[in-house]
Amino acid sequence: MLSGPITEMGPPANASASYLRTSLIRTGGGAAGTNDTMCGIAGYVGGRPAAPLILECLKRLEYRGYDSCGLAVQTSGGLFLRKAVGSIDGFREQVLGLAPAGTVGIGHTRWATHGVVDVRNAHPHVSCDGAIAIVHNGVIENADRLRTELAGQGHRFASDTDSEVVAHLIEEGMRQGQSFDRAFLALQERLLGTYAILAVHRDHDCILATRKGSPLVIGVGNGEYFPASDIPSFLPLTPRVVYLGEDECYSLSAGGMDRLAVQGDLAVRRHDVPTPEAVSLSVESISKGNFEHFMIKEILEQTGTLERLIREAPAAIHDVVPLLKNSKDIVFVGAGTSYHAALFGQYLFAAVARRHVDAYVSSDFEHHVDLLGPDSVVVALSQSGETADTLEAVHLAQDRGAPTIAVTNVELSSIARLSQHVIPLFSGPELAVAATKSYTAQLAILALFGESLASDLPADGTRPLWEARDRLFNLTSEAARRHTREVGRELLGAQQAFLTGRGRHYVTALEAALKLKEVSGLRAEALHGGEMKHGTLALVENGTPAIHFYDQQDFRRTEIAAAELKSRGARIISVGPQPLASSDQHIRVEDAGIATPIVQVIPMQILSYELAKLKSMDPDRPRNLAKSVTVP
Ligand code: F6R
Repeated sequence: MLSGPITEMGPPANASASYLRTSLIRTGGGAAGTNDTMCGIAGYVGGRPAAPLILECLKRLEYRGYDSCGLAVQTSGGLFLRKAVGSIDGFREQVLGLAPAGTVGIGHTRWATHGVVDVRNAHPHVSCDGAIAIVHNGVIENADRLRTELAGQGHRFASDTDSEVVAHLIEEGMRQGQSFDRAFLALQERLLGTYAILAVHRDHDCILATRKGSPLVIGVGNGEYFPASDIPSFLPLTPRVVYLGEDECYSLSAGGMDRLAVQGDLAVRRHDVPTPEAVSLSVESISKGNFEHFMIKEILEQTGTLERLIREAPAAIHDVVPLLKNSKDIVFVGAGTSYHAALFGQYLFAAVARRHVDAYVSSDFEHHVDLLGPDSVVVALSQSGETADTLEAVHLAQDRGAPTIAVTNVELSSIARLSQHVIPLFSGPELAVAATKSYTAQLAILALFGESLASDLPADGTRPLWEARDRLFNLTSEAARRHTREVGRELLGAQQAFLTGRGRHYVTALEAALKLKEVSGLRAEALHGGEMKHGTLALVENGTPAIHFYDQQDFRRTEIAAAELKSRGARIISVGPQPLASSDQHIRVEDAGIATPIVQVIPMQILSYELAKLKSMDPDRPRNLAKSVTVP
């Protein structure tokens, strides 16, 4: 729902008459220094009314942010502009009846990184005269300096965002006699930082588009274009795509697509544009289908994604095995769930490949990188391939001459493009904010790495994964889900939960706790199985849930630890091959050797999902989170 009423905003003092058609939804003020880095942008130009199509495209970008949104559509009398705090669904209800039938427009869905979420800071941002509207994804690093300069030239700012300078820079260029195209191209000379930008002008039937360091692709239909942050945005509308290179600028209109280039003081339009490529993604892969949420769809897809990975990954990793084998140091880096995968890699390499490897949180990598060099290899784990901390880690590794391997779900992502080697996750798009199928795929790739280092026959390494796949199939059955839902019901009133595991099962405890926190809002703390009695036991109260992960090998020690907790009032939930003597509830997960963590996490993904639903939370869109964390 929208958080504020729609109010028509009057024109600025220096606005032209056409600006009267522009309206804004307004609420309170915002904090200074706001930037807009983790957002989705989408546009449409062609023969159909733009507004419904832009809203449709933005809806499929909501995983990139859902704090606030807005659109600008060209009309005969000027730009129609609407913005709101809240989700696209609420915005659509308010806007669709009002939006003009203009066929050129741009839109934005935002995830605020600094400052409060409010309409002032929602995009699009407009120039002083209301003639130009822009949407931006990225960080303009020199925004403060540009604001001061533009303010000195008489520009007035309506938001606290870094992005707004873009609209005023174009306006200033045009005031000084430049064409819209030339003023847009001049952005490249003025902006420092990262950006994907779409701009429209009330008097030009086109969208101008450029990118540097932030994602932007163009869907190409018949006489229509869909520039957007990501392919799923427009995939049901067209499967053909042009990938924009760094610093490339394009003009898109119903008449065609041109590349913009600077020629002296002028801008020229060139027709040598890339041929659109057909996208291999299916529409089903980005739709919820009959599922209530993307999260449960993606959880249940894991039998299939793992199977595909087992078949296709051995060939994909073939080339990197010698690099891993011959390197002095192997380092895994990742953030959040991807860090948990990195940690699994550490346990696995010790057990299977008999190699010590390090696993670091991406944002901590700078404290370790000095020890690396050209004979090291850094494996960057990232579902999105866009996580800023992991991207920075890759840069740091490369500065030290260390080759990098990207293990990612997005093969054209920034981390993939920067890395010497790319190993895909074979998972298909993951659209729920919480990582599920990408996590099990990361574990599976690392298991294959480990097995490949242990033997010269990478294909051999798939055996434990086949075993995991079979277990996984059982754990996602309707009966298993019903049982997990019942366990979830028991957690409904809990204020806190503790999760423990030893060795690689500690990784499952970490990942399960993260899922419970982010998806179902439960304060969940993961501890190594041996650590509870070293302090945290003090927090255990009557009825505190304590969830234990173990395999046959850990069974005895886990029983002892669980009994200690039980005698202090904890309610014991066990996830392993057989119940513990103290179990109040048990989720049966049979051992699958080194691949057991792939299997054990499944009921916890389901549990988090079910608990969120029981609490009437939206599992796909956890509070305060976005899918790609493109801010450091
Ligand atoms: C948790 C989750 C996040 C991501 C993290 C890194 O469910 O999704 O913790 O794992 O933001 O993202 P990627 O893997 O895209 O680098």
